[in-house]
Amino acid sequence: MMSPLHAVIVACPAQGHVNPLMNLAELLAMRGFFITFVTTEWMDQRLLKAASKDAAARDREIQGRGFKFRFLAIPDGLPPEHGRTSEIGELLLALQSLGPALESVLSVADESVPPITCIITDSYLSCTAEVAKNLGVPRVVFWTTCTAYAIILKNAHFLLSQGHIPVKEEDLKSKDKLITCLPGKIPPIRPTDIVSFFREKHVSEVIYSASLYESRIQNIADYVLVNTFEELEGGIDAQIGLSVNGCPSLAIGPVFLPNFLQGRNSVYSMWEEDKTCFQWLDGQAQGSVLYVSFGSMAIKSEKQLHELALGLEACGYPFLWVLRSDIADGKSLDLPEGFKDRTKDRALIVSWTNQLKVLSHLSIGGFLTHSGWNSTLEAISMGIPMIGWPYCGDQFLNCRFVKDVWNVGFDFKGVDVDEFKVVTQEIVESTIRSIMEGSSRVKLRENVVRLKEAAHKAVTEGGTSYSNLNTFAEDMQKIAKSRV
Ligand code: UDX
Repeated sequence: MMSPLHAVIVACPAQGHVNPLMNLAELLAMRGFFITFVTTEWMDQRLLKAASKDAAARDREIQGRGFKFRFLAIPDGLPPEHGRTSEIGELLLALQSLGPALESVLSVADESVPPITCIITDSYLSCTAEVAKNLGVPRVVFWTTCTAYAIILKNAHFLLSQGHIPVKEEDLKSKDKLITCLPGKIPPIRPTDIVSFFREKHVSEVIYSASLYESRIQNIADYVLVNTFEELEGGIDAQIGLSVNGCPSLAIGPVFLPNFLQGRNSVYSMWEEDKTCFQWLDGQAQGSVLYVSFGSMAIKSEKQLHELALGLEACGYPFLWVLRSDIADGKSLDLPEGFKDRTKDRALIVSWTNQLKVLSHLSIGGFLTHSGWNSTLEAISMGIPMIGWPYCGDQFLNCRFVKDVWNVGFDFKGVDVDEFKVVTQEIVESTIRSIMEGSSRVKLRENVVRLKEAAHKAVTEGGTSYSNLNTFAEDMQKIAKSRV
């Protein structure tokens, strides 16, 4: 008899990566896979601490759902005091050397663990290429980003050869420069859409060279999966744009949505979640609340955050604001004097929450976001219009597609060229009004609800993402059979 399929899933130790990879792990466990979920010890400890659980309780919980599942953690080689996600260049560099530790932990003999069928790797984990090769198993590259961004990053060396990388300051400012040389029929992109780490000002930083290295290794894949859905990026040919040597390239997202629709709370947080906000949201009128959150890594200056606070105050809408303890250039924020008192009847500030649950709450009417891909997909899936305020990486592209391609939100003028440009309270206020009221809101809502319905359809039985994930499982089955 054949043993179960065994997927080793390796996640980059960052919030926006662990979440989708854990959700993918659950979807495959439901399809009968044995899962080994690997991340770094630092991340593993963060997740356990935030959930107030120990490893044994977590194992019991996941196995109690009938899943064949184990967690492994490897050291990242960085000193305990290192900021990790606040120094992503250094973190990325450290992760590039994790191959031997990963291979060694996977090679420990254990009769209760079936032979490995494949390694599903975060697209930002080049170290898995050598490990998959040494273990003789397929390397499945999972993109936690949209397809368009994945195509840009995978082709970074081509863009370099064409002179589009490093992205020059004057090109960032140019209104009409369009890049049309990329494969896969992606819509023409602007210099500001290119991975922000490739901007000229970053050339001497670790993140620039480390990202170029990751891009090279992203071209080593036996299978490609993307956390998106065909109805959203259907105009793009992922088979041409993302496949490596003709291997399958499939959209299987949003991976959190099947779990969410079946009532499972599959959110894996690095911070303890504030649960009081739901009672507060219950007391607000339908569609009236603006949710404000900038993901797990984005920071802003105190001056900017004060302008934002005053804009939120002036707009008059109730708001739920996630203010991480490191949001103000790495420190907690001292709010403008009297702000809390003046807004106390219609504002709630928390340090972290269950964002998916918030976005699905009937009271939420709009989302001011940093345009991380998970946040973007979550807002689309819940039918919430957005204001994008990108900070780094793929967020500039996500934000522009939200505004120009999918027409489900707006942004602040000029922040795509200079992420530190101060947005005034007046602009904050007027932009919030444009997503919360008037004819502009009606149009955005129409568009986003259409996409929401398409997302829900994609992940339910017979839908594109649902079927694509089945195809992946069947292909892995064939590989396992061919080895028996
Ligand atoms: C990063 C990048 O910024 C992002 O662009 C990339 O695509 C993935 O990695 P992050 O900055 O954290 O992630 O943003 P995002 O992708 O939006 O992921 C944040 C996750 O944290 C989301 O799943 C969101 O639901 C969750 N979250 C955020 C919470 O659960 N609670 C909060 O209070 C805020």
